[in-house]
Amino acid sequence: MSNCDPIYQENDDSIRVSILSEALPYIQKFSGRRIVIKYGGAAMSSESLQEAVFRDIALLSTVGAQPIIVHGGGPEINQWLNKLNIDSEFRDGLRVTNSETMEVVAMVLTGRVNKKIVNGINKVGASSIGLCGIDGNLLEARPWGNGSHGLVGEISRVNSDVIEPLISKGYIPVISSVAASETGITYNVNADTAAGEIAAAIGAEKLILLTDTLGILHNQKDSKSLIQSIRLPEVRDLIKQGIIQGGMTPKAECCIRALAQGVTAAHIIDGRIPHALLLEVFTNKGIGTMITGRG
Ligand SMILES: Nc1ncnc2c1ncn2[C@@H]1O[C@H](COP(=O)(O)OP(=O)(O)OP(=O)(O)O)[C@@H](O)[C@H]1O
Ligand SMILES: [Mg+2]
Repeated sequence: MSNCDPIYQENDDSIRVSILSEALPYIQKFSGRRIVIKYGGAAMSSESLQEAVFRDIALLSTVGAQPIIVHGGGPEINQWLNKLNIDSEFRDGLRVTNSETMEVVAMVLTGRVNKKIVNGINKVGASSIGLCGIDGNLLEARPWGNGSHGLVGEISRVNSDVIEPLISKGYIPVISSVAASETGITYNVNADTAAGEIAAAIGAEKLILLTDTLGILHNQKDSKSLIQSIRLPEVRDLIKQGIIQGGMTPKAECCIRALAQGVTAAHIIDGRIPHALLLEVFTNKGIGTMITGRG
C-alpha cells in the first residue's frame, strides 16, 4: 500500500483526527495558562531537534497556552571560551565567572543563542521577542554565595511587569539569564534558577526544564533508574545524598523554590526526544520526572 492509496490516507487522516480530539481536554486545561520552559544548552544539540522544539512552542502558543522561554547555552559558551583560550571551571553545577568569562557569556547568550531561538520560533509562525534580565530590569541580581563563584548571580527580584504586556499581546518572551545588580554589575545567572524565579513571579502553571538526560536518575549510568514522579522532601534527600549533582543541582533547587512559591508542577524532561514538550503537556503519558508538593 503506498501513501497515495485512498485506504492508507483514510487511516492516516482518522489517526490524525483522533489524536487532535484526544488533545482537546489538555488544550482546554492550558488555554490562557502560563508555562515556563527552560531550554537548556545541552538539549540544543541538533538543528532538527531545535526546529521540533520551536514548532512545539509555536503550537502551544497557537492553541492558547502562554509559553515563556528561558534559555541556557552551556555548550556554545564553552565553544567560544575555548576559541578564546579562556578556561572553564564548574563548581556546584555553576560556571565560575570572572569578568572575562562574563563578557563571553553575555555575548553568546544575548547575541547568538537568544536570537537563534527568537528567529527559529518566528520562522514557524509564532511571534517571539528576545530580551535578557537587564532589559527593563526584568531580573535583578546579587552575587551568589557572597561572591564565592565570582560574577555568578542569584536573583533578588523579578520585575514581571516587563513581560506582562508581551504575554497578554500573544508574544512569546525568550529570556537569556544575564542580569544586573542595582549598581549595574552584570551577573551570569544559571538559566534553571532564572526560569524557576520567573515561573513563581508570573504565577505559572507549569515549569518545564528541557535538558539532555531522561530526567532525575537514581543512577546516572542506568536509564531504567528514572524517577517518574517525586515530591519535594524526597528531592531534598537526593541532593543531600549526592544522587542529584552537577547541572542537575540548580534544576532540583529551582523546582523546589518554584513549587514552594505556588507553581503547581515542575517537570525535568529529555529535550533529545522529538516533541518532548507536546508529549509532556498534551498526553496522559508524561515523560521525564514530575516534581510536585509545597515543602
Ligand atoms: N541524578 C541525576 N540524574 C540525571 N542527570 C544528572 C543527575 N545528577 C547530575 N546530572 C547531570 O546533569 C546534567 C544536566 O545539566 P546541564 O547543566 O549539563 O544541562 P542543561 O542545564 O540542560 O544545559 P545548560 O546548563 O547549558 O543550560 C546531566 O547531563 C547529568 O550529567
Ligand atoms: Mg545547566
